[in-house]
Amino acid sequence: MAVTKGNKKPHVLAVPFPAQGHVKPLMKLARQIAKHGIKVTFVNIECVHRQILSSSRAEAEAEDEDMQNLVMTSVSDGRGPGEEHDVFKLLDTLRNSMPRSLTELIETINASTPDERITCVIADITMAYLSRTAESMGAEFVVFSPPSAAAVGILGLIPKLLEEGSMDQDGSVTNGVITSLSKDIPEWKKDEYSWSFAIDLKTQKIFFECSRRIVREVSEARLLISNTCYELETAACDLTPNLLPVGPLTLVNPDGPKPGPKSCSFHPQDLSCLTWLDGKADGSVIYVSFGSLAVFSQQQLDELAFGLEMSGRAFLWVVRADLANGSRAVLPDGLAGENGKIVEWAPQEEVLSHRSVGCFLSHCGWNSTLEGLSRGVPFLCWPYFSDQFHNQKYICDKWEIGLRIDHDENGIRSRHEIREKIDLVFCDDRFRKNASRLKEVTRESVGEGGSSYKNLKKFIDHLRKIC
Ligand code: UDX
Repeated sequence: MAVTKGNKKPHVLAVPFPAQGHVKPLMKLARQIAKHGIKVTFVNIECVHRQILSSSRAEAEAEDEDMQNLVMTSVSDGRGPGEEHDVFKLLDTLRNSMPRSLTELIETINASTPDERITCVIADITMAYLSRTAESMGAEFVVFSPPSAAAVGILGLIPKLLEEGSMDQDGSVTNGVITSLSKDIPEWKKDEYSWSFAIDLKTQKIFFECSRRIVREVSEARLLISNTCYELETAACDLTPNLLPVGPLTLVNPDGPKPGPKSCSFHPQDLSCLTWLDGKADGSVIYVSFGSLAVFSQQQLDELAFGLEMSGRAFLWVVRADLANGSRAVLPDGLAGENGKIVEWAPQEEVLSHRSVGCFLSHCGWNSTLEGLSRGVPFLCWPYFSDQFHNQKYICDKWEIGLRIDHDENGIRSRHEIREKIDLVFCDDRFRKNASRLKEVTRESVGEGGSSYKNLKKFIDHLRKIC
């Protein structure tokens, strides 16, 4: 259907997938669009909207005037009582409920502000099925992709892998199968695909089916905005012709020291760790964080705690309330002494910008990867699931800005392995030098005249034209 014409002003509806690692980067894009004077309605599901509001600080920074162009709202997610915490269930319930909820929302907006009807819907890559909803309301449809360009590229290979019989219907390949997209992109082996979840094949099957649907739906999308940068992932960006790299969005719109609801943190940030970091020497602290979803056994957390202690270095560790397989972790007595600081949720972008942080022990989520490398911080890699295995390969093998923490034959990363890798990453200056170079590369890309800067400008100019 033809795009709505005759509006006085463009108006974007931004629809993230309701997980921390998806909402946050789309909000950064939305903020940038709003800064250019374009109205944005950012729509979360109700429980996420409530969570963000209750997590944001009472003394949040005053908003810039142009942020008045950005409105946050919510719709129901279609889940029943007791299902509120099941992120995987959402993949199905959203597919059923979102087209109707968003149609109603757009109808209400269009009726109440006829000069500012919705002209463009930007939806998360997992929700590309919303293209029909957007088109039926006369709006242009654009996909937003939070993970790497390589993670998008590998999805495109699924039909071929199935056809040649290297992959079964559950998304598993037999040992020995190696998938390559280009000589310039690290390859994928068994259990390294973004849908792989070897410890729970039922969940893997859900991820794989979702990935197959994404392949079909994204192939029809006119434009795929990606939170990556051409200079970081040149080969992967070239593989997808309709992909527009505009990142790292963490640099385009970094969180300030007292972020408000429009930074979209799902948990209250413990700012006391910034003062604690102030008291440490430059480049001396290990920052440990596994993002928003990874969980571990108590045994594994014990090994990490002792490994950190044995390293003799200062560490700041984000121990989420559900980190021990959904429960509160039990930490050794006296762990958080002079050298250690434990918080439930950190202001991560501020922490990674702090002069005293010398290394990021990370699960290698794509947001964390970009946040660390664009601030020149070397990595210790401990991937948990999804694209994190491939991000680890970028970090360790292609960019050479970090080291793997390997597990033993029982799947445990031992305290000795942890201590040894901490020593190695701090003692080898190569990692910091390479990370500093990538910091410059990404800053140039988002800076005036850089490739991400130009792409974002091109997109914003396009938004102005389609009203
Ligand atoms: C998930 C996937 O893991 C990731 O690989 C995918 O690309 C996006 O979705 P998540 O596991 O949460 O995300 O990791 P990540 O992508 O790193 O996102 C976590 C976000 O939470 C980051 O933006 C980080 O800054 C923020 N965070 C994390 C905090 O603000 N404070 C914390 O204490 C921890």
